Amino acid sequence: MKPKVYITRKLPEEVVSRIREVCEIRMWEEEEVPVPRFVLENEIAKIDGLYCLLTETIDRTLLEKAPKLKVVSNMAVGYNNIEVSAATDRGILVTNTPGVLTETTADLTFALLMATARRIVESSGFLRSGQWKTWSPMLLTGQDIHGATLGIIGLGRIGEALARRAKGFDMRLLYHNRSRKPDAENRLGLEYTDMETLLRESDFVCVMTPYTPETHNLIGKAQLALMKKNAVLINTARGGIVNEDDLYEALKKGTIWAAGLDVFEQEPIPLNHPLLTLPNVVTLPHIGSASVKTRLKMAHLAADNLLQALSGQRPAHPVNPEVLKQNRSLALRQ
Ligand code: GLV
Ligand code: GLV
Repeated sequence: MKPKVYITRKLPEEVVSRIREVCEIRMWEEEEVPVPRFVLENEIAKIDGLYCLLTETIDRTLLEKAPKLKVVSNMAVGYNNIEVSAATDRGILVTNTPGVLTETTADLTFALLMATARRIVESSGFLRSGQWKTWSPMLLTGQDIHGATLGIIGLGRIGEALARRAKGFDMRLLYHNRSRKPDAENRLGLEYTDMETLLRESDFVCVMTPYTPETHNLIGKAQLALMKKNAVLINTARGGIVNEDDLYEALKKGTIWAAGLDVFEQEPIPLNHPLLTLPNVVTLPHIGSASVKTRLKMAHLAADNLLQALSGQRPAHPVNPEVLKQNRSLALRQ
């Protein structure tokens, strides 16, 4: 009997057809509407494998409704939408899609940094709304990127890829991370600092950590107060890492100069959100990895993980590989 799989969003047909070859599939057929929770609760009761996106909350309550579920394949590198410990408790493998989106996300992060520093979006709006009267010495002046100090909080794959780009702009590179990375320091000329030094000395602070209980509101009032008045904060990681109320206050009062945000505490960010009233914020709808090539690679990699797990192989990117050991000892006991 073919394993049963539920796919929580309409995927490109080239990906769906690969899964359909070996699985019995059902799919939420919408592209721009997420699957309602009650539908997911109903579907998950029947399936062996779930293919989901970061828009779905896969928590313990949901997993308790899934007696046969073996794998949750997330089409994202981040997996804060999944209660991994609950999956592990139930012997359910969780997988993600690291690696394939590293360079694309670093591209977007640097683009957002540049757009924010040089007021690209604001300037474009200025022209189109008929405000451009003449060239003027200090009109729409921003911050220099070349030669500035970049502070990277969280030096994972994407953080390193960002550092490589920044090197080409002759930036001084600081980083803070749970563990030091001497190899990256040597290769890229990065300096390790404590968090306080990074915040005090950086012209650009980029948040690049995973979102976990430890990084929840990592940047709040106290941290923003340490930053330079001309500093720019960039977040392409996850919304909850930065406290949005504190960021709003800091941007309004001029504690920092500007922010570029691709991610928010609530997505989509409500249109009446105070941050959207500020001219010194550049906001994007969570498009870090959104290139055609990379999104297809992510979709295929999530399919690979799903199919490998369902066929009893070790998937390429398990988030909780301890489940594989549990299952093996279970198999040996039988
Ligand atoms: C996107 O935010 C991802 O985690 O892949
Ligand atoms: C600006 O356009 C300049 O020529 O300085």
